[in-house]
Amino acid sequence: MTNDMAHHGDRLDTNVFHIGGDLPVRRIGYGTMRLADGPGDPRGPEARIWTGPADRPAALRLLRTAVEAGVNLFDTADAYALGAGEELLAEALRPYGDEVAVATKVGNLRPSPTEWVPLGHPAYLRQQTELSLRRLRTERIDLLYLHRLDENYPVAEQLGALKRLQEEGKVRHIGLSEVTVEQLVEAGRTAPVAAVQNLYNLAERGHDPVVDHTARHGIAFVPFFPVAMGAHAGPDGPVARVAREAGATPAQTALAWLLRRGPHVVPIPGTTSEHHLKENMGALEVKLSDEQFALLSEVGTEAETEAETGAQAQADTETGS
Ligand SMILES: NC(=O)c1ccc[n+]([C@@H]2O[C@H](COP(=O)([O-])OP(=O)(O)OC[C@H]3O[C@@H](n4cnc5c(N)ncnc54)[C@H](OP(=O)(O)O)[C@@H]3O)[C@@H](O)[C@H]2O)c1
Repeated sequence: MTNDMAHHGDRLDTNVFHIGGDLPVRRIGYGTMRLADGPGDPRGPEARIWTGPADRPAALRLLRTAVEAGVNLFDTADAYALGAGEELLAEALRPYGDEVAVATKVGNLRPSPTEWVPLGHPAYLRQQTELSLRRLRTERIDLLYLHRLDENYPVAEQLGALKRLQEEGKVRHIGLSEVTVEQLVEAGRTAPVAAVQNLYNLAERGHDPVVDHTARHGIAFVPFFPVAMGAHAGPDGPVARVAREAGATPAQTALAWLLRRGPHVVPIPGTTSEHHLKENMGALEVKLSDEQFALLSEVGTEAETEAETGAQAQADTETGS
């Protein structure tokens, strides 16, 4: 896990963002949720994330390859395969080098493969963080997200639980997931929020206000489902056109648009493929012109409805909503 020293020179590197001001991460991370899919499980929005990897040695190899490819932010959750996702990360990455940051999440119950139920009872959040520490086999979690705010408990109580863990040195930075600007502001009254992880990509732009708000406040914005492009991914669509011009793949182009959206944006694409992993890291080298950025930005404003049926279905799978 990362040490307290910011790495010299990183502050000038636009491909690096300092979470909470002191945790430097490369601006393409790796979302490990899909590694926790079991054998024969359905893919896409039907994915269950319930039993652990179908091919464990391959999953371990992929995580180690990710480090070699330059990934230093790994994203998991206690809810991914009931903790098996965290155990997998620990097995692959321990001893964590100084440069590797692990983010996990608490606050979602998994009573069955198809249910994701928020639970914000402060004692539960505390217990789950203790279990995450054990499974990750670390003394301190670099970034702990509240997976979902639970409307049945006051925001101050939920954030208060995380803040106490931070004061005890068990959590370095606190994050929130799937929140609005209003919720973020309210949460910030109890604890400093260093990162927000919301569904966002060039076709699904509902969280634009959160992207802008986090930019103004130095908070990392971590888009999940970042390579989705909706119908605009077609061979004659704008993404393919810009990709051809930029000498990049469509997935790299979608990621490059996110990187250009703000210096605080840190996408965490998930993949089970080494080829896609390296391709996604390559997005850090793709620089879009102002015209290309503007053209791609129009996709989101045109695509809201279409994207909601696809990408939002993925988010709903995870929320159980
Ligand atoms: N906070 C939350 O509520 C929440 C919700 C969902 C996800 N997440 C986090 O966000 C991470 C990313 O989200 P995600 O995995 O749902 O979405 P994603 O990264 O946007 O998409 C993953 C899908 O895209 C494919 N893919 C990845 N790279 C590709 C490439 N270069 N070319 C073509 N296809 C590519 C993957 O297939 P292949 O395996 O074949 O590459 C997979 O089917 C998750 O792993 C998880 O850590 C958080």
